[in-house]
Amino acid sequence: MAHIIVVGNEKGGSGKSTTCMHVATALVRMGHRVGALDLDVRQRSFGRYVENRKAFVERTGLAIPSPNYMLLPELDPAQADPSENPFDQRLSAAVALLEPVSDFIFIDCPGSHTRLAQVAHTLADTLITPLNDSFIDFDLLARVDAETGKVKGPSIYSEMVWNARQMRAQAGLRPIDWIVLRNRLGAQQMHNKKKVGAALEELSRRIGFRVAPGFSERVIFRELFPRGLTLLDLKDTGVESLNLSNIAARQEVRDLVTELQLPGVSVNF
Ligand SMILES: Nc1ncnc2c1ncn2[C@@H]1O[C@H](COP(=O)(O)OP(=O)(O)OP(=O)(O)O)[C@@H](O)[C@H]1O
Ligand SMILES: [Mg+2]
Repeated sequence: MAHIIVVGNEKGGSGKSTTCMHVATALVRMGHRVGALDLDVRQRSFGRYVENRKAFVERTGLAIPSPNYMLLPELDPAQADPSENPFDQRLSAAVALLEPVSDFIFIDCPGSHTRLAQVAHTLADTLITPLNDSFIDFDLLARVDAETGKVKGPSIYSEMVWNARQMRAQAGLRPIDWIVLRNRLGAQQMHNKKKVGAALEELSRRIGFRVAPGFSERVIFRELFPRGLTLLDLKDTGVESLNLSNIAARQEVRDLVTELQLPGVSVNF
């Protein structure tokens, strides 16, 4: 059985596709078979990333491994089950095709609530939710008391994850391991960082997620997209030595992959 990793947050621009790219690349580089699905059918950033990577490999002839990206298959309406939502069927068909050839399947979700993303959350063995370090983004997870800073209760996205967890429990599936990743952490704003950190710690206990060490705001996390690369590939492309920021970025990716505690993965990059 492939282990399904869903990357989701209904808040746009929180770093879902960036996280998908980096974790999927880390796993494929460690020799795991990685399938990739992108439910953001308009932007397809994750899909485009893998396509850029394939094009780079063709152009340069460099043997760097790639995730196995698949578009959601078109289903023959005559074959489709009329009692089931057609989009759900396309997602389950894609997962069924990738499952026998993958150790891990990544599903990147759009930055808004869609039916397909909701179904994907019920498939997650691991759910990663990247979060910009701001209370605007935090608001999607929980309501915070304006005066005391205390968490008042979960909000819409957390409730959606809660529902997905209930559905999995009813189906006898293993619980979702939910990891929240703080993204685009800055070197400044210590006060805000501490406040968001404290609120996340409190919320993690209440609604059951783990907080992973975060990604800092770094150019290297975004500049290699057109070539379909990540900082983990730089050595293979002839870059002899990484600068300090890139070394720190690699450590951040390593720390995240370690924290995910994925089955059969011992981190060695
Ligand atoms: N740690 C980081 N350092 C620098 N830039 C980052 C970092 N994380 C994300 N970005 C940039 O922020 C923007 C949004 O990131 P990304 O596209 O990964 O978010 P998303 O959650 O997938 O967005 P959407 O909801 O639109 O799908 C992109 O331009 C990306 O390159
Ligand atoms: Mg995206």
